[in-house]
Amino acid sequence: MPLVSMRQLLDEAAKGGYGVGAFNVNDMEQIQAIMGAAKETKSPVIIQASRGARQFAQDKYLFHLILAAAELNPEIPIAMHQDHGNSFETCKSAIDLGYTSVMMDGSLKEDGKTPASFEENVAVTKRVVDFAHERGVTVEGEIGVLGGVEDGHGAGGTGLEHVTDPDQAVEFAELTGVDALAIAIGTSHGAYKFSKKPDGSVLKMDVLIAIHKRLPNTHLVMHGSSSVPKDLQDVINKYGGKLKETWGVPVEEIQLGIRNGVRKINVDTDNRLAMTGAIRKVLWETPEKFDPRDYMKPAREAMQKVVAQRMTQFGQAGHAGDYQAVSITEIAKGYKNGSLSTRPLVAAK
Ligand code: 13P
Repeated sequence: MPLVSMRQLLDEAAKGGYGVGAFNVNDMEQIQAIMGAAKETKSPVIIQASRGARQFAQDKYLFHLILAAAELNPEIPIAMHQDHGNSFETCKSAIDLGYTSVMMDGSLKEDGKTPASFEENVAVTKRVVDFAHERGVTVEGEIGVLGGVEDGHGAGGTGLEHVTDPDQAVEFAELTGVDALAIAIGTSHGAYKFSKKPDGSVLKMDVLIAIHKRLPNTHLVMHGSSSVPKDLQDVINKYGGKLKETWGVPVEEIQLGIRNGVRKINVDTDNRLAMTGAIRKVLWETPEKFDPRDYMKPAREAMQKVVAQRMTQFGQAGHAGDYQAVSITEIAKGYKNGSLSTRPLVAAK
């Protein structure tokens, strides 16, 4: 199967009432781990690259590795997504390369740190939507500001400083025509999300539910959704690591989100933890080893295990064969003739 539009993948997820994990990649082993898990669980999948990842791996290496993944796994729908584009130019460069989806994170200014005004966010996001839709490419926007920093991108803080306002979310979706909407409900990027197990009073699930009620057909996106499992933290610390005690987003909260319009769930940290723990274990137990394959193979296996578990928990498992890829050219026609709507359905308050 060629790379598919993320819009098609999320529309299908909405029909089936499930969520789709969007997993970050920087190298071949991570891509192989994701594809191993997608094959094992028969899942459609979103592979995403941040600006930092594109710089680290170099665009051509990363993109061709993902094309290899599509070629080797024709039965798996894969959307290739730019995570946290900071400007029109970043999104355009991903589209020019062949990404089938981009995130224009206009919630922050181009420096990727300073919160932007609502008007600035709408203007840059709309510009990306116009350019992307003409080419059949999906756009995710963000309203409200997430906490933490990932790959140098982020406003920092706890994630509760700029929680999304449901009225603004409606206005933003109407003004921009985005295909998917990332909202801020108290999650943040990275391992240090919460200093105690989060409950309903920490994560703003009521805000998510309120947004879904107003925008029942809009695909919602949860960023910062790693669960930071204790067992993965323990492996790292057992073999010489120094992680402080921390909590992530409980899977049950994500599942509640999926029942309320969340279709894309971003996970990076859990995979980083799994790989690092596996590498530490090998190097600690067998310090005489120096062949990278001796630790990269267990690292890849550890990540595959986490990804397969999330695919099952998010409900995407078993859905890879539900549909055929619609070409990006056909998707572009759909945006043009209105068969793919960019006007959100808005319910009364
Ligand atoms: P985590 O740091 O929780 O894995 O979040 C990743 C993310 O949201 C990427 O955009």
